[in-house]
Amino acid sequence: DSAIKRSMPLFGKTVMVTAGPTYEAIDPVRFIGNHSSGKMGFALADELTRLGADVTLIAGPTAQKSTQMLKRIDVVSAQDMFNACSSVFPNTDITVMCAAVADYRPKVVATQKIKKQDSDLVLELEKTTDILASLGTAKKAHQILVGFALETNDEENYAKGKLEKKNLDLVVLNSLNDKGAGFKSDTNKITIFNKALERTVFEMKSKTDVAKDICAAILKIAK
Ligand code: CTP
Ligand code: CA
Repeated sequence: DSAIKRSMPLFGKTVMVTAGPTYEAIDPVRFIGNHSSGKMGFALADELTRLGADVTLIAGPTAQKSTQMLKRIDVVSAQDMFNACSSVFPNTDITVMCAAVADYRPKVVATQKIKKQDSDLVLELEKTTDILASLGTAKKAHQILVGFALETNDEENYAKGKLEKKNLDLVVLNSLNDKGAGFKSDTNKITIFNKALERTVFEMKSKTDVAKDICAAILKIAK
C-alpha cells in the first residue's frame, strides 16, 4: 500500500454498511416494501471508502450506484439481508445499519399469483429478525455498531431507547417531521446520540454532507 493510503483515517478498518429497503414477497408478482431510496447508505459507503476503509455494502433493491470501488452484496428480503450481515459482521470493525429493513413479512408466500376474489383479502404478517439487535448481541468490544432511528413522534426518546436496547455505539435520528428530510429527498436532517446519550444536532444538508458528519462522529470513537 502507498503512503497516501496508509495515512487515510480509516486505513486498515473493515466496514459494513447496509442500504435501501427490503422487499417481502406476497406472491411471485407482489411484495411489501417501503420508500427508502438507498441514497443515505450509498453516500455513507462511498464516504467511508474515501476515508480509506475496506467497505462491504449490503444493498436492498435500489437504483443507486456507488461511485467508489467497494464490495457490494445485493439482497432482496430482510432474511437475505440478515444472512449477508451475519456472515460479514464478525470480520468488521465498524458497521453502519442504514437499511430500512421490513419489520414484518407475509407469513405465507403464495407460490402462484393470488387471484382476485369477490371478498376482501387478509394477509397475515410475521415479524422479521431485527438484524441490528442481533448484531448488537454478537458485538465484540473492539467493534463499533451504528444504527438509525426513523421516527415521527417522541423522536429523541425512541432513538435513545434503540441505542440502549440494541447495544449501539451511536444512533442517528432521522425525524420525518423535518421537511426535506427522509426517504426520497437528496437532503437530510439528523441528530446523533452517543453511548453517553450526548446529543449533536445537525443542520439540513445534502446526504453527501450528512454522510461526512456521521463519519466524523464515527472517527471520534474509532481507535
Ligand atoms: N433494523 C434492523 N432489522 C429490522 C428492523 C430494523 O436491523 N428487522 C435496524 C434499522 O436498520 C435501523 C434500526 O434497526 O438501523 C432502527 O430501525 P427503525 O425502523 O427506526 O426501528 P425499529 O427498531 O424497527 O422499531 P420501529 O420501526 O417500531 O420504530
Ligand atoms: Ca422498523
